[in-house]
Amino acid sequence: MTWKTLDDMDLNGKRVLTRVDINVPMENGRVTDATRIDRIVPTVKDIQAKGGLPILLAHYGRPKGQVVPEMSLSHVLPALVEALGQKVAFADGDYAAASGAMTAGDVLLVENLRFAPGEEKNDPGFAGRLASLGDIYCNDAFSAAHRAHASTEALARLLPACAGRLMQAELAALESALGDPTRPVAAVVGGAKVSTKLDLLGNLVSKVDHLIIGGGMANTFLAAQGVNVGKSLAEHDMTGTAQQIMAKADTAGCAIHLPVDIVVTRDFAAHAANQTLHVESCPDDAIILDAGPATVARISDVFTTSKTLIWNGPLGAFELEPFNAATNAAAVQAAELTAAGALVSVAGGGDTVAALNAAGAADRFTYISTAGGAFLEWMEGKTLPGVAALGGETKGETDG
Ligand code: 3PG
Repeated sequence: MTWKTLDDMDLNGKRVLTRVDINVPMENGRVTDATRIDRIVPTVKDIQAKGGLPILLAHYGRPKGQVVPEMSLSHVLPALVEALGQKVAFADGDYAAASGAMTAGDVLLVENLRFAPGEEKNDPGFAGRLASLGDIYCNDAFSAAHRAHASTEALARLLPACAGRLMQAELAALESALGDPTRPVAAVVGGAKVSTKLDLLGNLVSKVDHLIIGGGMANTFLAAQGVNVGKSLAEHDMTGTAQQIMAKADTAGCAIHLPVDIVVTRDFAAHAANQTLHVESCPDDAIILDAGPATVARISDVFTTSKTLIWNGPLGAFELEPFNAATNAAAVQAAELTAAGALVSVAGGGDTVAALNAAGAADRFTYISTAGGAFLEWMEGKTLPGVAALGGETKGETDG
């Protein structure tokens, strides 16, 4: 990895424009999960310890270049103050004056950058105005690194640039899971639709030894093998694609694992009456909402013989009890193997973290990424502009 870190920079007395991702879930004006905020604290503290003045640059939501008061970062400010344990100044007008007024020990948060049209356009003029507020650029927002925006891309090219601690940790974890992993490597990919994870599946089959497919997308693969999936969610128009992925996996020596037993119901509802059946016994009027215990036992065998696990997406309808059973059991198994030192486990993306948290497994995983879309794009082997702009490795190499 060739990018610089905070250790390589002289920060004494310098204003450090620090791109963070504090795009956190909120309800009724309050932060409901402060994980992303907590994870930037080491970077802010390290900048301060080196005599630097952190100026936090961030976005919230998708205001599309307009001022949308509900998306003001002022709503996130109290949670940031709590996480940092200190006062944080907030600049929503004259940024230059706010930056100029900083003295040792201060932290400044700049209002939602996406209120300015230049941010998402990666506008050089807007990036230049941001650059004029500081001396050094530090990107700690891996989870926004798939966006080529002014604060993630253009700005990195205008000032001496480095990665923050969270960015470093995310990149190191992903490298250990997919870049240069200890083999055998298993991947769990779940979620509703094959069509949203095509690039991901295509890249993974050439990288991993075992690909465990769960959730709605498993139905598409089962249907492509001629298995009746009743009224289950399945993309029947993706049959050809699923067959191509299976053929590619075969050539690459990647074993694909699909459910061997299923939990079916007639109602898509929590606690709906359900049955566990052999995968080839799905009634015509039933929907598959989870994998059964025999499938979990097979997944468990794969985990036990693997050294590295990468996990994206639940195995069933994890938000509806009892259809979270397979996800929970597999997650706990992965957590136990990790805690015993037998497995390196990395998870990320969208619903995944919520599912692993609900299973009580997340805290024993080796690494839980804060990223949603960026985690997926990295697993797809795509270049992340925010990482590329730091001058380092840019992707989980594509196959070929
Ligand atoms: C995220 O929440 O995944 C990041 O903050 C990126 O947000 P975006 O998808 O709106 O660019």
